[in-house]
Amino acid sequence: MLSVLKSMNRMEKRHSPHLSLAHAYWKELLCAGGIAIDATCGNGHDTMILAELLLTYPESLLFGLDVQQSALNKTSALLQSAIPASHFARVSLHQLCHGNIDRLPLPASPRLIVYNLGYLPGGDKTITTQTPTTLQSLQKAADLLAPHGAISVTCYPGHLEGEKEESAILNWARQLPHAKWQICHHRWVNRQASPSLFWIYC
Ligand SMILES: C[S@@+](CC[C@H](N)C(=O)[O-])C[C@H]1O[C@@H](n2cnc3c(N)ncnc32)[C@H](O)[C@@H]1O
Repeated sequence: MLSVLKSMNRMEKRHSPHLSLAHAYWKELLCAGGIAIDATCGNGHDTMILAELLLTYPESLLFGLDVQQSALNKTSALLQSAIPASHFARVSLHQLCHGNIDRLPLPASPRLIVYNLGYLPGGDKTITTQTPTTLQSLQKAADLLAPHGAISVTCYPGHLEGEKEESAILNWARQLPHAKWQICHHRWVNRQASPSLFWIYC
């Protein structure tokens, strides 16, 4: 945990500490490569960070999914403009509800599965992640993970569906056996309804 906090960039810490903390966790976990999944690609910013952390390792693979094809198009354009073609060749993007994450053509168990819940910034706010499919996806993600893998979930309780979703995830996470799972829920106590981060590690 200390090394994760140390690697948070000071500027990022001030503006979006939940994302900065998530990225620091990902960096530590992906230090030997592997397979990662971005279960909510959106505008592609998280997928980009995963690509930069992961794809320098030659055998590594990155999967991305979103229900909106327009989100996948943005993600694809962002990645193609910023990473080498040889790295982009190991990215596959799928228009899929993350409730069906087990349908991805994974060649091996993933090391990291990332969720950044809610709706696409600047997009249609009615297309937002929903508690039942998020929970279905998280359970499948927990079953898919490689040993010593992790699930990262950023929640936005500042809107109604986000608040329900965060509370349902908390209840789901609490019942995971403590002998197998280590789970942190980071929240910023002096910011009303600020985003929070679950780090779910096995
Ligand atoms: C907050 S945005 C993600 C932000 C993104 N990670 C980024 O870095 O730009 C949430 C995304 O989840 C997608 N989404 C909503 N419901 C989904 C579902 N059931 N399965 C997969 N993606 C979903 C939305 O289309 C939206 O693009």
